[in-house]
Amino acid sequence: MTRRIPVHLGDRSYDIHVGPGLLDQAGRLIAPFAKGPLPVVTDANVAPLYLDRLVAVLKDAGLDPRPIVLEAGESTKSWSWLEKLMTKLLATGVDRSGLVVAFGGGVIGDLTGFAAGIVKRGIAFAQVPTTLLSQVDSSVGGKTGINVPEGKNLVGVFHQPKVVIADTGVLATLPRRQLLAGYAEVAKAGALGDAEYFAWLEQNAARALAGETDAIVHTVAHACAMKADIVERDEHESGVRALLNLGHTFGHALEAATGFSDRLLHGEGVAIGMALAFDLSVRLGLCPPDDAARVTAHLKAVGLPAAIADVSGAPLSAEVLLAAMAHDKKIKDGKLVFVLARGIGQAFVTADVPVEKVREVLG
Ligand SMILES: NC(=O)c1ccc[n+]([C@@H]2O[C@H](COP(=O)([O-])OP(=O)(O)OC[C@H]3O[C@@H](n4cnc5c(N)ncnc54)[C@H](O)[C@@H]3O)[C@@H](O)[C@H]2O)c1
Repeated sequence: MTRRIPVHLGDRSYDIHVGPGLLDQAGRLIAPFAKGPLPVVTDANVAPLYLDRLVAVLKDAGLDPRPIVLEAGESTKSWSWLEKLMTKLLATGVDRSGLVVAFGGGVIGDLTGFAAGIVKRGIAFAQVPTTLLSQVDSSVGGKTGINVPEGKNLVGVFHQPKVVIADTGVLATLPRRQLLAGYAEVAKAGALGDAEYFAWLEQNAARALAGETDAIVHTVAHACAMKADIVERDEHESGVRALLNLGHTFGHALEAATGFSDRLLHGEGVAIGMALAFDLSVRLGLCPPDDAARVTAHLKAVGLPAAIADVSGAPLSAEVLLAAMAHDKKIKDGKLVFVLARGIGQAFVTADVPVEKVREVLG
């Protein structure tokens, strides 16, 4: 039932392991890369659920785990928490030839990967992702970083992990809303580049989200394989990797307009953004309306928001959203960059979209 997906990046190559119960294999999988004190960074939600188990298997493998528990939540991806983490990492005595383990969701993965990338001029790290979003997206590809007052993810480094261990069993304790937000990135993978996978998801997403082992393992493993393929072709996002931003121009605007608050999780913004990107593609005469309807229908069927009106609270105006887009880091030469689609599985990047059409889509 366990799957291994290699990521081919020359001397930065690594394997992604996906399967139920993999936490119990973590000692064996991490041991080849670890030496000396082994900082294990996690958050205050994951720690009471799984930290003792991970620490025990690492000790059983003869390793020297040093747990570091940080506050949970997006605000931990910040300058102040980076500084605190750096102090704690140095206090463990971890060496340049050592390894740091990131054990948690995308927040812990992004922050810990960045910290590992700069402490002592860069040491190795391993990803043990515990949310669906981090298993299918953020733990793969080496993007690390923090949010700063100027914007999200604006400070960071590319730093590839040595190994990714995605235990699908730990998703059982993830709150449903977080699980669905992660699923938006799964649906995105199909919608942007793999019509067959998207069709499989239409049939099997409910089973995967209910935790049925074969369905969730295939869901995660295939999404990882797709991301690995894209990262192999364009590690530093100078081309095809930008396709992974499907739904993100709209999504980031929605997140900004809702103050990056609990009103809208990142994945929920991506879901709505994806539906809007397909709508825009239809309005530009690029995409068959049926494909856009399928994307929206699938997002709704699993329980994700798929329209701006699905965001709770005060209505979000087109003007506010356009202003937010104007501040988006995905502006290239003064033009808004969009990922559009010629159909399900056929996304492409363009900076050639008339603002009036964008306004139409925003209602
Ligand atoms: N590096 C990348 O390529 C990349 C890609 C996409 C997103 N991201 C980043 O990922 C972050 C979001 O990641 P996320 O959605 O995993 O958020 P997160 O790390 O905040 O995790 C979501 C919540 O679930 C809790 N949690 C984690 N695992 C759990 C489990 N197994 N059981 C119960 N609760 C659990 C966490 O404590 C947290 O409260 C954002 O900062 C985003 O910018 C990075």
